[in-house]
Amino acid sequence: MSSEQRERSPSERRDALKEVLAQARGCVRCTELAATRKTVVFGAGNADAELMFVGEAPGASEDEQGLPFVGRAGKLLEKLLAEIGLERTDVFIGNVLKCRPPGNRDPLPVEIENCQEYLLRQVELIQPTVICTLGNFSTKLLRGDPTGITRLHGQPEVIVLGARAVRLYPIYHPAAALYTPRMLQTLREDFTRLPALLALGAPEQPPQEVPDIPEPAPAEHQGPPDTEQARSETDQLGLF
Ligand code: URA
Repeated sequence: MSSEQRERSPSERRDALKEVLAQARGCVRCTELAATRKTVVFGAGNADAELMFVGEAPGASEDEQGLPFVGRAGKLLEKLLAEIGLERTDVFIGNVLKCRPPGNRDPLPVEIENCQEYLLRQVELIQPTVICTLGNFSTKLLRGDPTGITRLHGQPEVIVLGARAVRLYPIYHPAAALYTPRMLQTLREDFTRLPALLALGAPEQPPQEVPDIPEPAPAEHQGPPDTEQARSETDQLGLF
C-alpha cells in the first residue's frame, strides 16, 4: 500500500471499495461458483466501520438477495449486535467467499485462495480496528494457521494484514450457535467483550514499508456482468 493510498479520505476509500465490488461481480476465477451463483455477495454495511465481521460464505438466502447474513444466522447476528448497542449499519459484514458454494458445501482451499484478495482489499479500504472472525474458515484464513475456533474463540490478538495491524477477535459462527444452546451462550459472552475491545482503539501500526496487497485480477480474467448488476452499487454494498 502506497503512502498515497494510506492517506485516502473515507469517501475515496468508499469509492475504491465500489471498484473492488465491480471487479468481484465479474469474477470467474472459481468456474463452478461463477456458473452456479445467482449473485456475488460482496459484503454490506458501513464502509468506514471500526468493526468488521467475516463469515464463511453466502447461503441460499444471501445468494438470492446479494447481501450477507440475511438468513437465520444473520438474524441471530443482528440480535447479538443489538445486545451490545450496535446495528448492522454500524459495522461491515463480509465473508471469506463472495459466492455461494453449491448445496452450502464447505469452501474449497482453491476457492479460498482465489477469493482472498477481495477480502484483503476490503480490510485495506475499510480500515477496521477490530475484525471479528465467525467460525473456522475466516479465523484460519486471517491467522494463516490451522488452529480451530474452539481453542481460539474469545481471545483477541493483534495481527498484521497487508500494511495494517488489526485486532482479530475469533468467535463462534452464529449458524453453529443456532443449534447448540451452550455454544450460543459462549457466543453471547464473547460478544459482550466486543465494546471493550473496540474502546482500545487501533493497535500500534507497523512501519510503513510493507509490500502492496495485489489488486484483484484485471479485466481480462473477468466474465460478463451478473444479472444483479442492474442493482445499484450502493444498494448491494449497503454503504452508509
Ligand atoms: N453464513 C455465512 O458464513 N455467511 C453468510 O453470509 C450467511 C451465512
